[in-house]
Amino acid sequence: MKRLTGKTAMITGAARGIGRAFAERYVAEGARVAIADIDLPRAQETVSQIGENAIAVHMDVTDQASIDAAVAETIAELGQIDILINNAAIFTAAPITEITRADYARTFDINVAGTLFTLQAVARHMIERGIKGRIINMASQAGRRGEPLVAVYCATKAAIISLTQSAGLNLIQHGINVNAISPGVVDGEHWDGVDAFFAKYENKAPGQKKREVGASVPYGRMGTAEDLTGMAVFLASDDADYIVAQCYNVDGGQWMS
Ligand SMILES: NC(=O)c1ccc[n+]([C@@H]2O[C@H](COP(=O)([O-])OP(=O)(O)OC[C@H]3O[C@@H](n4cnc5c(N)ncnc54)[C@H](O)[C@@H]3O)[C@@H](O)[C@H]2O)c1
Repeated sequence: MKRLTGKTAMITGAARGIGRAFAERYVAEGARVAIADIDLPRAQETVSQIGENAIAVHMDVTDQASIDAAVAETIAELGQIDILINNAAIFTAAPITEITRADYARTFDINVAGTLFTLQAVARHMIERGIKGRIINMASQAGRRGEPLVAVYCATKAAIISLTQSAGLNLIQHGINVNAISPGVVDGEHWDGVDAFFAKYENKAPGQKKREVGASVPYGRMGTAEDLTGMAVFLASDDADYIVAQCYNVDGGQWMS
């Protein structure tokens, strides 16, 4: 049985990677989905592969006018937004002594402010229409603890866990459930960049960091984007109605809280 029949969803950063897998699974579960991404050509290509129940929307989560326009376009095309997945983010890494203010500001702007102000815009729409909506934020195991070369990205993901708690507690009075998913290490283009970084800073061969982290996962391998889609469907479903302000690890056993 399809679990999201009749629902509409907006997924940020869904042109590729995990967001794309969410979009494909949501459509398979009966939802109509807006793939909202700064990379419009890639979003359109993804839509052409997913089919008629997906639309591509240009969105830059660092630009309030772009957030507002993307939310308005999604509502105009799909009727309303029942589910938001705040998935867009960038990875950045550097030793503490090499972090720049510009990189810090850009990463927080996309990962944290982008999530907060997209959540705000969609929550206002849900409240105005009386929609008992679902909002899912993408955290990370990187938000559970610091890492020596990944201070800024880790801090943004810790902020996402905190924002999920505050927004979840504030919005449940309107029947809007806010929760988060915390992946571990998920193979794909994002991790190609992480691997290249560690090849430079830890003097590793290309692909070596991926092999090492995969071997360290209790499950026995890196995750795939598809490994995360079950949790994204569950949190958007009626079965998750009493779940508020939580962050779920979907990481093959890497983190224990
Ligand atoms: N891949 C992993 O191992 C992993 C682990 C933990 C958490 N996560 C989180 O999962 C989410 C998805 O990760 P992924 O691996 O699919 O990443 P990805 O880099 O493959 O995809 C990110 C998407 O966000 C889009 N994007 C970037 N800046 C944007 C902006 N300003 N406005 C709108 N869209 C923008 C990109 O165009 C891209 O399509 C992220 O929040 C990431 O932090 C990933």
